[in-house]
Amino acid sequence: MKTEKLWSSILMFLLLIIRRNGLCQNFAESFHSQQHYDTGTDEPQFITKGHLYRAVVDDTIILPCKVKNLGTYVLLWRRGAAVLTAQNLMVTRDARFKIIDGYNLQISNVKITDAGDYVCQIGDEQPKDQVHTLEILVPPAVRAVPDHGIVSARQGGTATLECKASGNPTPRVYWYRKMAKHSSMPLSEGSIFVLEHVGRQHSGAYQCKAENGVREAAYADVNLKVLSPPELSVERVWIHAAEDTDVQLVCKLQSEMSTAVSWYQNSFIIDSTDRREMYQEKDRYILRISRFQPSDFGNYSCVADNSLGRTKKYIEVSGRPGPTEFLSSQYSSHLDRYNLTFRIESVPDLDEIKLLYRKLMINETYQRPGNWNELVLYPSVSRHDSRHFVMSYIITKLEHNSVYEVMVQAKNRYGWNEVSDIHQFHTRSYGYMHENMDFIINSITSGSSYGNKSRNLLMAISCQFLTALSVIIYIRI
Ligand SMILES: *[C@@H]1O[C@H](CO)[C@@H](O)[C@H](O)[C@H]1NC(C)=O
Ligand SMILES: *[C@@H]1O[C@H](CO)[C@@H](O)[C@H](O)[C@H]1NC(C)=O
Ligand SMILES: *[C@@H]1O[C@H](CO)[C@@H](O)[C@H](O)[C@H]1NC(C)=O
Ligand SMILES: *[C@@H]1O[C@H](CO)[C@@H](O)[C@H](O)[C@H]1NC(C)=O
Repeated sequence: MKTEKLWSSILMFLLLIIRRNGLCQNFAESFHSQQHYDTGTDEPQFITKGHLYRAVVDDTIILPCKVKNLGTYVLLWRRGAAVLTAQNLMVTRDARFKIIDGYNLQISNVKITDAGDYVCQIGDEQPKDQVHTLEILVPPAVRAVPDHGIVSARQGGTATLECKASGNPTPRVYWYRKMAKHSSMPLSEGSIFVLEHVGRQHSGAYQCKAENGVREAAYADVNLKVLSPPELSVERVWIHAAEDTDVQLVCKLQSEMSTAVSWYQNSFIIDSTDRREMYQEKDRYILRISRFQPSDFGNYSCVADNSLGRTKKYIEVSGRPGPTEFLSSQYSSHLDRYNLTFRIESVPDLDEIKLLYRKLMINETYQRPGNWNELVLYPSVSRHDSRHFVMSYIITKLEHNSVYEVMVQAKNRYGWNEVSDIHQFHTRSYGYMHENMDFIINSITSGSSYGNKSRNLLMAISCQFLTALSVIIYIRI
């Protein structure tokens, strides 16, 4: 009983909604015709009722007009003062209008201009009217303003993106970043989207979406260009060079505007010569100097200019040795010695190497460095390749189980390089092999064969366990 009641009230509710929206007219009509059937007079009378009809542009719509006791009366369809049809005679020349199934008016390929009131009239001294209102729905359309869809704004300024939407009902407009999925939240709603304090990260494609519930949503793209002073970066700020070698300097440019890039050496602008070549590969600006000469050493800079500003980046080209790179492990396998191995970039031979080291005094409460010991080496270094030297030096008379720090500086005929970073190492303690520690640390950090093996073993065991478990569960079920 209760459920039946519930169902019937749901049905009534649905009916109400359907009727309010002017959908499902036939159903609504039959509903009405039942009610108006037996009024018991011979006067002609409308069975159908006036309604609001909605049709999407290009669709076909039927406006009903049913009359009982028509007798010899004449039925007319009017729109305003204009008569469209009289009985079965077409008065309008518009071929889209037709009378079908008795006296219903069919309009095909409806246009926006078809919207309005349509009157079905019983011709009499006192004419009787039935009025249908036709509303034409138009799917959304949207376009970017301006049409080319490109908007520029200065860095730090305000960008205004705009889309013009049309349709009936008036569509709502939503803004998205082009790459983002449309299920994500829109950035903004409304035909104008304002971005304040724009930065380079705001550059790119945006999309506006117009939606009014009629058919599919419409989209338009707008590209935002944020104009800013050029941005430069250098691949290497310091380049080691030697006479008669070839050197390449590279600056990378980021700019949305036309930008001029020029090269300077020690603050003098330079031109191409037979040994100096300047060219561009996409965003890379390259200065290539062949058969390097002593006068070529110095501070170079690439300078980029656009209408919003100028940016400058330095590259030093020097003959001095490059930075020191330590190759030896942090753990000595000896109690009192450490084999320090390092690499230095230099085309000319190294003349002198300074080596500074000190012990770090460490206990639970206290950390204090000792005094630096300085060693000057006239190295018998081995050349690693045409640009690099690799050198080993055994530091002796060290204390066991201690932490030391070491720094290296090297000189060639162009001068000293920068003092290296501090490199720390540990000497071995009695009864404890640092090789093991080294080994363990390596396996943790770089995943040695031992690390792989134990991991693989663990994986294998857990896989077997899971398989067994699943078999047991299967059998029990
Ligand atoms: C190059 O410029 C740096 C600072 O930008 C300066 O320290 C260095 O001495 C300059 N080198 C030469 C050769 O002018
Ligand atoms: C020091 O280490 C380097 C590189 O590992 C090696 O080539 C050299 O033989 C070692 N020197 C001594 C004396 O063990
Ligand atoms: C730590 O070293 C300092 C200086 O060598 C010393 O005075 C202090 O007693 C030491 N503390 C411990 C807990 O060994
Ligand atoms: C350890 O595993 C990694 C990747 O898992 C592999 O690249 C590497 O070669 C393995 N090392 C050895 C010694 O098997």
